[in-house]
Order: sequence, then structure tokens, then C-alpha cells
Amino acid sequence: MEDRIIYPELNEYLRSQLPQHEGLLKELEEYAADPYVPIIQREVAQFLKVFFSYSSPKTILEVGTAIGYSAIYFSSLMGSGGKIVTIERDPEMIEKAMANIARAGFSDRITVVEGDAQNVLGTIDGPFDVVFLDAAKGQYGKFLPKCLDLLKTGGTLITDNILYRGIVASEELAPRKHITIARNLRNYIYEISHSARLDTTILPLGDGLGISRKLF
Ligand SMILES: C[S@@+](CC[C@H](N)C(=O)[O-])C[C@H]1O[C@@H](n2cnc3c(N)ncnc32)[C@H](O)[C@@H]1O
Repeated sequence: MEDRIIYPELNEYLRSQLPQHEGLLKELEEYAADPYVPIIQREVAQFLKVFFSYSSPKTILEVGTAIGYSAIYFSSLMGSGGKIVTIERDPEMIEKAMANIARAGFSDRITVVEGDAQNVLGTIDGPFDVVFLDAAKGQYGKFLPKCLDLLKTGGTLITDNILYRGIVASEELAPRKHITIARNLRNYIYEISHSARLDTTILPLGDGLGISRKLF
């Protein structure tokens, strides 16, 4: 499927300007490339590094751990005082994430919660400074009420892959098998853009990044 968010040549140029990661993060980036495991794109990682340097979150709830890449990256930005709770439903991913988190030396800073977010979000103790949604895109709307409950007033809801390669722009752009996801994402975008409780901006960065501040 063609990426219709930003011209590929511009994307490639901007990527070439990003700092390279070293050590475990670099190794995980290489691992994620083959076999393909979706992890946050490098421009999203760099944006969040700058954003966190201003907002200094101490607690992050992540939905969608995969191999633990973003949790390890965020934890390295937050330092030893930061705590992350991350939810994952795939047992194989959980095993890999736990091993990677242990290798990073962050087992005391990152808690992996096993289960479908829809079932386990209600069991988690908040509130958090940041909620990072990076799981099944078609389900974001279902997660939203619980995520907002778990977010501090003044905290930030960050939604990755919110533009889903640009197909949210119009139903004609969505291949048949992605129509439901595109519809669900459009409803989600409408909700976070029109909620009185949120101030939202959507950036055409990576696969699209939603940034919403909880007002009350
Ligand atoms: C895009 S990957 C997460 C990548 C990770 N945040 C990173 O950047 O390193 C999405 C992950 O969410 C998990 N997932 C999808 N839907 C889920 C759900 N409803 N509950 C829990 N985990 C879910 C998938 O198994 C997958 O590992």
C-alpha cells in the first residue's frame, strides 16, 4: 500500500538527518526490520525525545509493547525515576520484551502487563503523565474512555499510526480489507478532535501521530 502521508523522498531525506541509536536500541531496530515487527518510526522517536525533554513525564502507560523497543527507549529518556507500565496480549512478544528489558537493566522501571488492553486497562492503577497508544489501530476508540480515566489532568495522550498510511483521508483510499480500520480511526480522530476534555493536534509524522492534552 502506498504511503500517502508525506512524499517518500522528503521522508528519506529527513530520516537521513536523524541521529543514529547505538547499542541495544540499534540492535532492536535491526531485529525489528527482519522479521518485521512494527516499532515506533525513527522520526516519531526523535519527536518524542524532544517532547519529553519539555514535558518531563515521570509515568507512562503504553498500550502495545511488542519487543519492548519503545518502552526501553522512553525509559532511557526518563531516567531512573521514571516508571512505565506497558500492555501486550501476545505471549511471544511478552517473552521477548521481558528479555530485552532485562538486558537494558530496566526491569525495575518497566512493568509488562499481559492481556488484551480492552480487558486489562480497567485493572491498572493510574494516573499517568502520558498514555501512549500503539496497538491494534481499529480498537483505539474502545480504549479511549479507560485511557482518559488513567491520564492525569494536564497529561498527554499520544496516539501512533493515527493516519494509517494516509488512508483515513477518504474511504476510497482504503483497500477493502482495511475499510473497517480506516472507519474506526476516522471516528477516533473525530472523537479526540471534538472532545471538550482534550486539546488535540495531529501530526503527519511517521504513520501519523496524535497529541492530545487532557484538560479535565
Ligand atoms: C506496533 S506494535 C507496538 C510497538 C512498540 N510500542 C514499539 O514501538 O516498540 C503493536 C503491539 O500491540 C499489540 N496489541 C495489539 N492489540 C492489542 C490489544 N488489544 N491489547 C494488547 N496488546 C495489543 C500487538 O500484539 C503488538 O505487539
